[in-house]
Amino acid sequence: MLRWGILSTANIARAAVIPAIQASTNGEVVAVASRDRDRADAFARPLAIPRAYGSYAALLDDPQIDAIYIALPNSLHHAWTLNAVAAGKHVLCEKPLAMSAAQCLEMAAAAEAAGVTLMEAFMYRFHPQITTAQEIVSSGALGDVQHMHAAFTFRLTNPANIRLQAELGGGALMDVGCYCVNALRTFAGREPVEVQAHAVWHANGVDERMAGLLRFDGGLTGQFDCALTLARRETLLAAGTEATLELPRAYLPGAGDTIVQVRKSYSEVSEQVIAGVDEYRLMVEHFADCVRTGQPPRYDAREAACNMAVIEALYRSARAQGQPVAVPAC
Ligand SMILES: NC(=O)c1ccc[n+]([C@@H]2O[C@H](COP(=O)([O-])OP(=O)(O)OC[C@H]3O[C@@H](n4cnc5c(N)ncnc54)[C@H](OP(=O)(O)O)[C@@H]3O)[C@@H](O)[C@H]2O)c1
Repeated sequence: MLRWGILSTANIARAAVIPAIQASTNGEVVAVASRDRDRADAFARPLAIPRAYGSYAALLDDPQIDAIYIALPNSLHHAWTLNAVAAGKHVLCEKPLAMSAAQCLEMAAAAEAAGVTLMEAFMYRFHPQITTAQEIVSSGALGDVQHMHAAFTFRLTNPANIRLQAELGGGALMDVGCYCVNALRTFAGREPVEVQAHAVWHANGVDERMAGLLRFDGGLTGQFDCALTLARRETLLAAGTEATLELPRAYLPGAGDTIVQVRKSYSEVSEQVIAGVDEYRLMVEHFADCVRTGQPPRYDAREAACNMAVIEALYRSARAQGQPVAVPAC
């Protein structure tokens, strides 16, 4: 069993990742750390976590912990991953892995030098609906796929939320648009060469909404929109010459069944039902397997650097009123 330490009392840790580790076949949660000791205690008790620490450093000093799950605000991912790696811990870090491609590459190099596993916690890609959709695209059933669209939006109402704080790495693209960029790159099977974006900015300086375009070699285009201001929508579409593939719940389908839809025409629609799974559990089990076997994770920190290179280019374009920006090779 991989012994996990949880770095912070984040909502996502409590709601999804800790239950996933506790349900997993190859991991257990042994400790949690908060900046505040009382908060750590209050968090640990109902979740039956044996040890609670009042500082992140104390968690990293615990020799009975193998791996750290980092659920901090985005701007702290880089520093605390480096600290955890320096302490000899394997790290599963929340998305986006860091604030820039350069930071991701530094984290990748540090993990490689220390001989520890580092992975970005993009759980959506462990769901079998994604594998099924990728198989359909690569089978040629859609014909020539020329265009894709990804969307991830929801409505944030709490002004104190970390997603609205520029200094914590907030913003719609950093929070949910990063899924769209990841999905478009994954389904394209290559990196975009150029991007354009238009953002609507919140008074705090973060993008509260963004619409963007990724241009790939060979004429393939990928469009996305992401928002902290709109009703929940999380779709992925691949448009081919013969048919269109759609995932109506591409990123957070929940534990229930989900569908992969292929539409040849309005009357010819096939729907494949994918049985419900816990994508977080599949992610943490894969991570623990990688630690045990020494195999590299299916998606490594260098892949995360490629995602960040696109995100950085999109921000540059959005700040330049939608000017096309070349994506540097990653
Ligand atoms: N994969 C997913 O499905 C998913 C879903 C949601 C979020 N996320 C990612 O998970 C991370 C956390 O998101 P969340 O919504 O769960 O965050 P959250 O509930 O706001 O928790 C963030 C935690 O970070 C700690 N922290 C340290 N410095 C802080 C600061 N200056 N301001 C605020 N908190 C600080 C706090 O813990 P202590 O006070 O205990 O130290 C806090 O509980 C983000 O990177 C986000 O992108 C992923």
